[in-house]
Amino acid sequence: MHHTEIIDSPERTSEGHLLPAHGGELVDLYVGPQRRAEIKTESKELASWDLTPRQLCDLELLLNGAFSPLGGFMTRADYERVCHEMTLATGILWPMPITLDVSEDFAKSLTAGSSKIALRDSEGVMLALLHVEEVWKPDRREEAQSVFNTTSLAHPGVAYVLSKSNPWYIGGRLEGVQAPSSYDFKTLRLSPSELRRQFGRQGWRRIVAFQTRNPMHRAHVELTFRACREAEASLLIHPAVGMTKPGDVDYFTRVRCYQAVLAKYPRGTAKLALLPLAMRMGGPREAIWHALIRKNCGCSHMIIGRDHAGPGKDTDGKAFYGPYLAQELFQKYQPEIGVTMMPFHNMVYVEDQAKYLPEDEVPRDARVLNISGTELRQRLNEGRLIPDWFTYPEVIQELRRSFPPRNQQGFTIFFTGLSGAGKSTIANVLVIKLLEIGGRPVTLFDGDLVRKHLSSELGFSREHRDLNIRRIGYVASEITKNRGIAICAPIAPYDAMRKEVRAMIAPLGGFIMVHLSTPVEVCEKRDRKGLYAKARAGIIKEFTGVSDPYEEPTDADITINTAELAPDEAAQEIILHLESEGFIGNPTNSRVS
Ligand code: PPS
Repeated sequence: MHHTEIIDSPERTSEGHLLPAHGGELVDLYVGPQRRAEIKTESKELASWDLTPRQLCDLELLLNGAFSPLGGFMTRADYERVCHEMTLATGILWPMPITLDVSEDFAKSLTAGSSKIALRDSEGVMLALLHVEEVWKPDRREEAQSVFNTTSLAHPGVAYVLSKSNPWYIGGRLEGVQAPSSYDFKTLRLSPSELRRQFGRQGWRRIVAFQTRNPMHRAHVELTFRACREAEASLLIHPAVGMTKPGDVDYFTRVRCYQAVLAKYPRGTAKLALLPLAMRMGGPREAIWHALIRKNCGCSHMIIGRDHAGPGKDTDGKAFYGPYLAQELFQKYQPEIGVTMMPFHNMVYVEDQAKYLPEDEVPRDARVLNISGTELRQRLNEGRLIPDWFTYPEVIQELRRSFPPRNQQGFTIFFTGLSGAGKSTIANVLVIKLLEIGGRPVTLFDGDLVRKHLSSELGFSREHRDLNIRRIGYVASEITKNRGIAICAPIAPYDAMRKEVRAMIAPLGGFIMVHLSTPVEVCEKRDRKGLYAKARAGIIKEFTGVSDPYEEPTDADITINTAELAPDEAAQEIILHLESEGFIGNPTNSRVS
């Protein structure tokens, strides 16, 4: 026999034994040094497009071949077939449109077939040259409907296409000049070719990919153990660190958790790499897309759990996709995908067996335990116990560092009310009381002081008032994010603007709106600054409560009428509210781990 197998040949452990990339060959769109120099010179004459964060993620994965066989942003023929038939114009399976969306003005300045564009990051660094082959205005509603099977804005992928994306698309071939720069976790950012090389060197041939956008706990580790055992394979923990679902745990925290979890696997059986993927939360189609990316990275298997890449629920509380729809669609296309699906039900903790089992294997009547993401957030917020069966002490420690209990989070007290309602007086008392309690820096944004230092050029038109409040809100949001206390005391007469500020700050810590409902007659009678008299005389125009509107809030957390309450009492009421919400004082339940 001529064909002899040499067990220890370097070829045996080369990447040649891994699954070929989607479409046959791993794409690499980066040009060599000579062409790079040419492009750089040429680019001085070219129009530039500054990539959005999502486009930046897409570009990186196009250039390094994670999106093989794509050679650029999709042209119309590819786009339409992907939307309607889930294949490229060549007939190759591809479930997700990868398009470059631009403004109408920019699109109209281009000539399809001859224009070239320098694609730049937010700092202006040129990353790639795009040969414009096609420019068109897509029907984005139709895209949402065909790709996501809905046009509901409650679906994050749809919301992006319909309300965030630019209205025109351009498609064409890319020449990569340099990779988008990143400064964090550099050794974990591995391109498909680097991953393939490392798998080859380690002699890994069967590799299960685990995609995630959440911190990993014991259930995930058990799930991946099972998958690897069943597939007799090694594990690639491959979290998405581009754009994930709004409200997710930031990836810095997540990666520190993954690093802690990696130590739980036997040495040499699991690898961690970061994928700068901008997720679309497209459920079934996204599951296939995820698998194709992992195929390009050299993986042979892919875990698909319950509700893979699920977008959450619609406004009527109904899930957009059935929990196992992703598994069904994957199953149907598995031959074309080429990656073997490892389908799983949710892993739950079976208390009397003290172990994790997939939901569908749990004996009837067994008591199962589970902690949802929402429940975990609440426990962190309140500094409550997170049990050992749920996660590892190292993971809890990381999560507690990033999500301290409320008494260590920042917050904003946002007063609103007429001039003379007592905002400054109560705010000043409150500052003193909070300084007496101590523990966090306190910053006061009094209406008058803000007008002097932050908004000196602004007047009192609606537009200027809104701008003023937006500035205060922005600075207060930064303070809140960094765990300080911001006390704001503007009139803030418009409901929509107050809501905008709340939406900006609430996710970063606490936001407590205090409405000083002191009636205008009382304020006018006080007239400490003599402004009401001037307003009545027409000397001051657009004066709130006299010649300008004040929209009474219906969403205040505290309402105080200073005609009835002394400043000290009013401040005390706010302190008590903060205490009952857990922002000051000790957490109600003592923290156990
Ligand atoms: S706003 O609407 O929230 O932007 O107003 P604010 O920044 O709080 O500024 C209100 C202070 O400016 C003085 N002032 C006026 N207020 C209302 N309307 C008009 N036209 C006006 N002109 C000057 C007034 O002293 C307000 O201070 P306070 O502390 O509320 O009395």
